[in-house]
Amino acid sequence: MEETGMNDQKNYPDQDQLNRELAAHICDVLSADIEKTGSASLAVSGGNTPKGLFRCLSMSEISWEKITIVLVDERWVDTQSPDSNERLVREHLAQNAALETLVVGLKTDHQRAEEGLREAQQRISLLTKPFTAVILGMGGDGHTASWFPKAQNLKNLLDPETTDEVAITDPVTAPHKRATLTLSAVLNSREIIVHITGDEKRAVIESAQDNGYPIAAILEQSKTPVTLWWAP
Ligand code: 6PG
Repeated sequence: MEETGMNDQKNYPDQDQLNRELAAHICDVLSADIEKTGSASLAVSGGNTPKGLFRCLSMSEISWEKITIVLVDERWVDTQSPDSNERLVREHLAQNAALETLVVGLKTDHQRAEEGLREAQQRISLLTKPFTAVILGMGGDGHTASWFPKAQNLKNLLDPETTDEVAITDPVTAPHKRATLTLSAVLNSREIIVHITGDEKRAVIESAQDNGYPIAAILEQSKTPVTLWWAP
């Protein structure tokens, strides 16, 4: 397997086993953080890939009342919209055993994303850091979170020195304005989990650094351990 700038890679024969094993790992680190600090937090991405993982997590008997789920990024749409990542998390993760877990979204009641930024930043600033874990997906264009290749403010989003934890961005190549954690906010975590499936995305991440894709910012940093979790 070509070098991907990952500290570790876990490859599974199918997505069901990947979801079960990744859910078990996430439950272990959440429970360890609760044991150590009294609470835990999990930052999650949206999209289709994590749905099966969310269902596995939702059925895990851990101390969900001591866990905060926060969105890595969000489309600036109503939280009842089918495009809402918060809706995805509430429908697939904050269910079953995890029904009582606290979900902190990035979408506010403001019509315009720029008007909601301050409140979204306040929500994230109030959370205990480092996050226990951050789960990142990846698009076929090498974006992760809402760090899109053609975004006008991509450099700001990926500036490791910025003190901003949340920013607004226009993806240009995808619908909806986004609120997204910045790279520096994502790195303020005990571990980063890159959760992708399929051969196409495998090839994208293996070429990410050569092509300068946004996810390369995660692969090239050495502050936070990164593990790739993959299945066909
Ligand atoms: C989003 C996600 C985004 C996602 C990738 C992969 O808001 O869309 O946060 O970064 O992880 O687009 O999405 P799929 O899992 O649907 O391929």
